Amino acid sequence: DWTMAAFRGEAIKSIRAQVGEGRVLCGLSGGVDSAVAAVLIHEAIGENLTCVFVDHGLMRLGEAEQVVTLFRDHYNIPLVHVDASDLFVGALEGVSDPETKRKTIGKLFIDVFEAEAKKIAADGRGAPQFLAQGTLYPDVIESVSFTGGPSVTIKSHHNVGGLPARMNMKLVEPLRELFKDEVRALGRELGLPPAFVGRHPFPGPGLAIRIPGAISREKLDILRKADAIYLEEIAKAGLYDTIWQAFAVLLPVRTVGVMGDGRTYDHVCALRAVTSVDGMTADFFPFDMNVLGRCATRIINEVKGINRVVYDVTSKPPGTIEWE
Ligand code: XMP
Repeated sequence: DWTMAAFRGEAIKSIRAQVGEGRVLCGLSGGVDSAVAAVLIHEAIGENLTCVFVDHGLMRLGEAEQVVTLFRDHYNIPLVHVDASDLFVGALEGVSDPETKRKTIGKLFIDVFEAEAKKIAADGRGAPQFLAQGTLYPDVIESVSFTGGPSVTIKSHHNVGGLPARMNMKLVEPLRELFKDEVRALGRELGLPPAFVGRHPFPGPGLAIRIPGAISREKLDILRKADAIYLEEIAKAGLYDTIWQAFAVLLPVRTVGVMGDGRTYDHVCALRAVTSVDGMTADFFPFDMNVLGRCATRIINEVKGINRVVYDVTSKPPGTIEWE
């Protein structure tokens, strides 16, 4: 793609112009945006970029490992992997209010990231003066997209918002003029694996907001298994790229079922899939019932703790994409 090749060259020039010999810190989330930003900045300034991946233990199955492998082994980009799952899961114990969950995660994230930044600043190579973010154009106008009016915040969004000022760092945001599909094109241009580039969006607070009510390690494990089966079936049906976002939700409701000769009393799993252009509005995805049926059968047979599967047919508005 010649436009993206041109953009790549221009972006590298302007990153170099902004940063000079300075050091840049980049938080990786596991998503496409921060990964593309990191690879681009690495191409511009090499070893002066340090990536930090705060693993909150709320990722999907195998995802944390994939990020580490991609950056360390494939790209050879210096990456600090912080396993903070005990901290996050511990802090969320007994927390069931959606906004309190989001704020707890957001605050902890900043604390952990800041502590890592201080360690990196003390490594003898001087403190990083820049913080890189995979901010996209729609995020720049986020105040419009995520509020229901002048004073109504629907969901508090999770990012490192206050951090640059607190740590006296300047922002590097090489993707601020791009839309999601352009970031994907740039990612392909930079040689990121197609499967990685085509990934569905994933929220910062992770699986915590896909378990209404209080989370636990056990619930996270159940949800990860159900979610992986669901996405595997979607891929097998050739629908992954048609769908904007698909995921499982583990409900805090148990219902009665029968398996073999026995009665079961287990959790309900809700499946969600939507089509969308930018996440601001969305339509529920009209699956062929056979696909959904296969997902339900596999989830119930293979995931201990779930005995019923339902499908969410709510569009946005009035629903939001995530359940919390
Ligand atoms: P909602 O649920 O508000 O989600 O319809 C719209 C899109 O945003 C994602 N989302 C988030 N992304 N941090 C993020 O980085 C968040 O706190 C967050 N909350 C929702 C959601 O997955 C969907 O793509």
